[in-house]
Amino acid sequence: MKILVTGAAGFIGYHTVNRLINEGHSIVGIDNLCDPDTVDLKKIRLSLLGINPDAIADARPVRSTIAQFDFIKLDVQDRENVLRLCNDLRFDAIIHLAAVTGTTLSSNYPTAFYDINTTGTLNMLEAARLANVKHFFFTSSSVVHGKLSHAPMEEQDDVDSPMSMYAGSKRAAELLCYTYAHSYNLPITIFRLFSVYGSWCRPNSAPMSIAYNITEGKPIRVINNGYLVRDFTYIDDVLDGVIFALNTPSHKPGRAPYALYNVGRSTPVPYLSFIQAIETTLGMPAIIERDSTDPFTIGEQVEMYADTTRLETELAYSPVWDYEEAVPLFAQWFKDNYNVTFTI
Ligand SMILES: NC(=O)c1ccc[n+]([C@@H]2O[C@H](COP(=O)([O-])OP(=O)(O)OC[C@H]3O[C@@H](n4cnc5c(N)ncnc54)[C@H](O)[C@@H]3O)[C@@H](O)[C@H]2O)c1
Repeated sequence: MKILVTGAAGFIGYHTVNRLINEGHSIVGIDNLCDPDTVDLKKIRLSLLGINPDAIADARPVRSTIAQFDFIKLDVQDRENVLRLCNDLRFDAIIHLAAVTGTTLSSNYPTAFYDINTTGTLNMLEAARLANVKHFFFTSSSVVHGKLSHAPMEEQDDVDSPMSMYAGSKRAAELLCYTYAHSYNLPITIFRLFSVYGSWCRPNSAPMSIAYNITEGKPIRVINNGYLVRDFTYIDDVLDGVIFALNTPSHKPGRAPYALYNVGRSTPVPYLSFIQAIETTLGMPAIIERDSTDPFTIGEQVEMYADTTRLETELAYSPVWDYEEAVPLFAQWFKDNYNVTFTI
């Protein structure tokens, strides 16, 4: 298949491109390489995919030296160029991952979150519609499960009370996806992802900041006096799911070709146990600072894990990696690479 991956220099984007190349697909990746704090990490990920970072220039394709992969520095907000790219290259599928993330950050930049996550998704949907793309895949987030949703989170929960602009922008994008599936018969699959981690993770994600703080001897602040439960999902499980979904676009007679799945390991993990697992592999003590902040006040839930019944029944797939097995892989990667191939 010829596939467009947006957000290709990001954590999940990098792994997705890598996996799809290995599966024999031909890939074009786009990313605007935003955020000066993380641009070096994004360029390292791209160089691992055979892209020479020095050759990157706005809207000009750079060919990988090792794979069927072209990278273009392009913003999903640039509707004209996004439409042109899709019209010219006639992709079989679009995997739309580009986004800005983070509940706290989103409260400082509400319009940017809407412009990129919501309008950017609209641009990609419109490009898919006009170019007759056969399957549109979108990653939403567990954060859409707002005030009215309780663990384990199910797809049919009421998610119309988002608690942050990040959540609201993703929920709005989900609704646009449904609208395009219904109105234009565009096959769409959405994964609502729950706390994904693995090598080359996002620096602002919990696993990376935990590993960083332990390594640097800095305190790790845990809100709600240390009691939080999360569904940590290993990257390989997400990649397997993407492959399953890509090969199985939804076709339900008489209904829009639309499928939405909650994707997590479906195991509630106390946040402090997750920290302890990283601490053990790093072989250094974590300094925990319990903080009384109520998660709701910063757009977070106390307990959050996925009900994956729909994923198992409709897609015949379920994540398998337990954190006890996967965290040592992640933490060892961090130990081997932090201050060697990357810094934060
Ligand atoms: N990692 C997780 O735990 C998690 C959980 C839930 C949902 N998600 C979703 O998965 C997707 C990928 O997440 P990630 O963890 O890889 O994040 P990431 O920040 O590592 O990757 C996102 C990429 O999108 C790019 N991007 C941002 N704005 C852009 C724009 N306007 N045009 C083009 N590119 C742009 C960024 O440069 C970045 O490389 C996102 O949509 C995110 O909301 C991730």
